Amino acid sequence: MAKAKSQYVCQECGTVHPKWLGRCEGCGAWNTLVEEAVSEPARGGKRKSGRGVTFTGLKGTGEQPPRRVSGLAEFDRTCGGGLVPGSSVLIGGDPGIGKSTLALQVAARLAAREGISCAYVSGEEATDQVRLRAQRLDLADAPVALAAATNVEDILPALEAPDAPEVLVVDSIQTMHTAELDSAPGTVSQVRASAQYLIRAAKAYGIAVVLVGHVTKEGTLAGPKVLEHMVDAVLTFEGERGHQFRILRAIKNRYGATDEIGVFEMTEAGLAEVANPSALFLAERRGRVAGSAVFAGMEGTRPVLVEIQALVASSALATPRRAVVGWDPNRLSMILAVLEARCGVLLAGQDVYLNVAGGLRVAEPAADLAVAAALLSAASDEPVAEDAVLFGEIGLSGEVRPVGQAEQRLKEAAKLGFASAWMPPRRGSRAPAPPAGIAADELGHLDDLVGRF
Ligand code: TYD
Ligand code: MG
Repeated sequence: MAKAKSQYVCQECGTVHPKWLGRCEGCGAWNTLVEEAVSEPARGGKRKSGRGVTFTGLKGTGEQPPRRVSGLAEFDRTCGGGLVPGSSVLIGGDPGIGKSTLALQVAARLAAREGISCAYVSGEEATDQVRLRAQRLDLADAPVALAAATNVEDILPALEAPDAPEVLVVDSIQTMHTAELDSAPGTVSQVRASAQYLIRAAKAYGIAVVLVGHVTKEGTLAGPKVLEHMVDAVLTFEGERGHQFRILRAIKNRYGATDEIGVFEMTEAGLAEVANPSALFLAERRGRVAGSAVFAGMEGTRPVLVEIQALVASSALATPRRAVVGWDPNRLSMILAVLEARCGVLLAGQDVYLNVAGGLRVAEPAADLAVAAALLSAASDEPVAEDAVLFGEIGLSGEVRPVGQAEQRLKEAAKLGFASAWMPPRRGSRAPAPPAGIAADELGHLDDLVGRF
């Protein structure tokens, strides 16, 4: 009898190696290879003949099935307007961040809607534990079908049945395994195979599947990393421990935009929707303090105002510290370099700390101007005007560049009572007048900003 062959699969990136190595050649991670049995196709066997595909024209009626809308607006928007029947969504996040709570709340809201049947399969908790959680969340009456299972073969028949649910939540995909593979539950191949079966069933029977997945310390969807390309949408649930805000962010979405976020607040009774995140992110802001600037940002289709805080202190280190929370450290280095080279502001011998208040992560270059203002304000100990918001990208020659959706940013700032916006020059005479109550204070170059401190 031929000896069973082994292969070594990296648990981080899924690269397959013929022999064991200490370090994965694919992603460079250490100690991530796990032995798995190979199931090879029979050698020299004839190629199995398939049924053959039938092609249809591109032109035709592409009917969109109605989306499954939960009524939890922050969730629905992040999905692109509700769950699409037959699609699969992965919700990733750190352990303890609130994924199970979110999944259960979504399931309960969906089930409470007329005509949407919803099932919740827990591989981590017993049904009694899920029930207790539902009681705590005051959702005990929701008509959700519950099951505790870890074997995909046990779940699949329920999806093929005539009374199959329309929405299935699987919490978590890492606990699922299939008897088809010999490898241990939790390994990449098990996670991948289990997800494959569930996703295939979802497509075949028009079920919307929500998979919950854990993320490793490094911030990657371990195991689920290999799922990212299999599912239709990847949502990450994030937030700082110690902050009560939680942000659901779409990082991939075949059926919607990827820059949407949903904002939630953690409460005793579960996740509460935050319809006006700007007010929440600015709630802890204290008036005239040096080193604080309000950035008028956009998260997807929604304007969000956040406070950017900076601290500049003389350094005792040969290489001064550059610590950043919630923003790109490379972008900070760039702004410090532009300030030095184009405006003569020297911060090289100083420690610089930058923080986006409230635990939000800002990715927009439009935050450059607000970051520069926070830095200049911290360095000069001169507060930024209390009623001003800022936005604008900074170029390498120090010019302030226009950014998109200026009107929406201005509108949001006016709504929250800000009186002026320090912003890039508005091109041409066609630019609409700023909304009532707010003045557009245009800055062409970073020098104009430096002059204010
Ligand atoms: P949980 O949903 O179990 O996190 P995950 O599934 O991501 O590991 O939530 C972790 C804990 O936080 C749990 O004990 C419940 C608590 N929690 C609240 O009390 N309120 C909330 O709004 C949320 C989201 C969680
Ligand atoms: Mg959980």
